[in-house]
Amino acid sequence: MKYNVSEPDISDREINYVCDAVKSTWVSSKGKYIDEFEEKFKNYIGTRYGLTSSNGTTALHLALSALNIKEGDEVIVPDLTFISPVNAVLYNNATPVLCDIKNDSWCIDEDKIESLINEKTKAIIVVHLYGNSANMDKIMEIKRKYNLYLIEDAAESLGTEYKNRKLGSFGDMGCFSFYGNKTMTTGEGGFCTTNNEELYNKMKILRDHGMTSKKRYWHEFIGYNYRLTNLQAALGLAQIERLDYFINRKREIARIYHENLKDYVATHPEGNNYNGTYWLYSILLNDGKIRDSLIEYLSKYDIETRRFFYPVHVMPPYIKYSRDDYTVSDEISQKGMNLPSGVKLNKDDIDYISDKIIEFLEK
Ligand SMILES: Cc1ncc(COP(=O)(O)O)c(C=O)c1O
Repeated sequence: MKYNVSEPDISDREINYVCDAVKSTWVSSKGKYIDEFEEKFKNYIGTRYGLTSSNGTTALHLALSALNIKEGDEVIVPDLTFISPVNAVLYNNATPVLCDIKNDSWCIDEDKIESLINEKTKAIIVVHLYGNSANMDKIMEIKRKYNLYLIEDAAESLGTEYKNRKLGSFGDMGCFSFYGNKTMTTGEGGFCTTNNEELYNKMKILRDHGMTSKKRYWHEFIGYNYRLTNLQAALGLAQIERLDYFINRKREIARIYHENLKDYVATHPEGNNYNGTYWLYSILLNDGKIRDSLIEYLSKYDIETRRFFYPVHVMPPYIKYSRDDYTVSDEISQKGMNLPSGVKLNKDDIDYISDKIIEFLEK
């Protein structure tokens, strides 16, 4: 389609760094770009430690494995999310406990978390959706009160600041994805941030087959190969050097959509305590039927849009993890859609897309 939901922006800088990495022959997971990218990214988020991984899902799996989340443990996860954090809990044979979301942020409902905590609960994964932020004050309070681990899945909210502090720096770990449609990309790729040296070291070992760094071919744990390559890190380094530009563009795109559409639909929430990055600018329609017809209508004009994620509790493998009522998740999932949000869209593009939405709604 002419107007995509999100496409990467690749400049000469990315091409030069990747070519340099190829020419250097450091094509696997060692090399200067890995080191530089890890250093830059963790500094950007504001944590002491950070490591790359092969994608966002493996970043979550590494985080949970380093925390020794295992069979018999429960992990609270929002019901409206991309599926990775739920699957990562299941990879470790632990139980995901699905929690409803909030109307004003589309993130986990902090007021419902406590009712889901019991003696088996070990961790909470918050998912910061579509550039928004969960209520970190309240969630940190719950974490401390019940002595739980906290993982932030900030894959969709890279650069969002909650009270002037970057998401991914609050929890025991922050996890990110650099899939091609994300705010910045490495093709496929992921990242874990942490302030805890022990967890960092454990994730590093788990990422590399569980092999101890002191003794080659000596395996302390059953690990994985979840490494990112130097070639991907070269792309990532160029992208993070341009990240402020991407985020400024996302915010500008959001501002134009909001102005154009605010009298017609419920526009993307703007948090009181956070400065959103609008990974995918999103709107809510009156109901699912209208939303689906609008998606269909826009596709005729070469405008790609996406429905929101399905609530996790309705899909066959996950029905058994329902523990709550999911009124808000059900409703937002039905009404929500993502609009084209790539940084290459200009004002005329956004005006055109907005006009088509208004034209449909007025018919
Ligand atoms: C919230 C969230 N978490 C995790 C992931 C998984 O990342 P990846 O596709 O890199 O495995 C994604 C999306 O891709 C996501 O949106």
